[in-house]
Amino acid sequence: MLSRPIRGMKDLCGVELEKYIYVIARARRIAEKYGYTQIKTPILEYTDVFLRSIGDETDVVSKEMYTFIDKGGESLTLRPEGTAGVMRAIASRNLAQQLPLKLMYFGEMFRYDRPQRGRFRQFHQLGFEHIGDKSPFTDAIMIAMAVEILSSVGIFDIKVLVNTLGDDETRENYTKAIVKFFSRNEEALSDESKIRLKKNPLRILDSKDAGDREICAMAPLIADYLSKDSGKYFETVCKLLVGYGLNYEVDSFLVRGLDYYTHTTFELKATSANYKDSLGGGGRYDKLLGLFGDQDVSGIGFAFGMERIMLLINDDSFGKTQKKVCVIPVCDNENNAAFELFKLLQNCDLNAEFLHIGNLTKKMKVAGRMGCEMALIIGETELKNGVITVKFMNKPDDGSKTKLIDKNQIAQFVKCSIGELSWR
Ligand code: HAM
Repeated sequence: MLSRPIRGMKDLCGVELEKYIYVIARARRIAEKYGYTQIKTPILEYTDVFLRSIGDETDVVSKEMYTFIDKGGESLTLRPEGTAGVMRAIASRNLAQQLPLKLMYFGEMFRYDRPQRGRFRQFHQLGFEHIGDKSPFTDAIMIAMAVEILSSVGIFDIKVLVNTLGDDETRENYTKAIVKFFSRNEEALSDESKIRLKKNPLRILDSKDAGDREICAMAPLIADYLSKDSGKYFETVCKLLVGYGLNYEVDSFLVRGLDYYTHTTFELKATSANYKDSLGGGGRYDKLLGLFGDQDVSGIGFAFGMERIMLLINDDSFGKTQKKVCVIPVCDNENNAAFELFKLLQNCDLNAEFLHIGNLTKKMKVAGRMGCEMALIIGETELKNGVITVKFMNKPDDGSKTKLIDKNQIAQFVKCSIGELSWR
């Protein structure tokens, strides 16, 4: 029981962690090219930060947040996403004085979701927010950057879905239309959607209930309710995407599960045989920063789910740790000499292990288990003659398996052998 992680949460180590670091490194390089700098916000925020921005009728807020009262009586929440915390940070640090801001973040997020493949209760997001620059160019550049990040880690089997939620006028007219439509079908809606119909009708469109989904398929389309300005804005975004040579599909029901979106929304969906869910998504928000007391400054952002990206990256090129040598004293008498050699190799930037516990057979076994390529053995004779016995762990047991090398030349010998063994 004590050794079990919490359901939906897992340790990241070995190949998985290597993949994580690799994706972040690639994304950082690309984001730098697009002018992003990094931000790290706390994992815990006051509950209101999420409640007010994500919306209390969303699944994330109403069902999935890890919320608790701390010892000082404050309601705190483990962040379910990164955008709200970034907006809070911009407001509390007065960063809106330096607009436009382009911020990248990555780290743990928490949602009390039903765990399944690619869905966890603790997961990692890699997110981007571009604040203070409202233009269809910004929207198109951001979508292009998202696609570029995926390609940079070898993910090409994707579908780009885009939609618009328009401006206030659009949403007002569209909300009236769907309220009328869903009211006619109210009896067939799930209990939850009946409540949504009263409180936040747009949220019915991202209901996961099968019955609701059937009704939603017949609902009016937002495209038919766009104000003139919103229509023009979205049309320009789409034209710019064509200019980028990006294949995209307009999905009129892409309302996304968070309340803060206005205008463009988008999602990148995997289309590989291996996985078909959303790798990342986001959109524009006109009113979000205003909620935190700053002026209304428009922004746009998206986040990738790291676990889903890692799922699509081939394991083959990971987990091969850099090759290493081990230094083995035959008996305790040679410990000091072996320890000096170990320090010398480390100072020469070589990956070295010092194996001094147990008898020689045990030490050699450990060396094999650790994947050492060479064992550098120092016994009584080696000590007396100023030499080292080099044992190539993976060579056949013929004349080439062992070599005697002068102790003054050993570091050079190991370095040269690295090339010979074609070490990474
Ligand atoms: P989101 O669509 O809720 O958007 O999450 C973004 C991505 O996080 C999803 O596409 C998915 O890959 C991943 N994700 C979500 N929930 C889980 C989970 N339980 N397990 C594993 N992966 C998950 C947002 O969070 C917005 N903050 C994105 C954004 C940034 N919008 C504007 N700026």
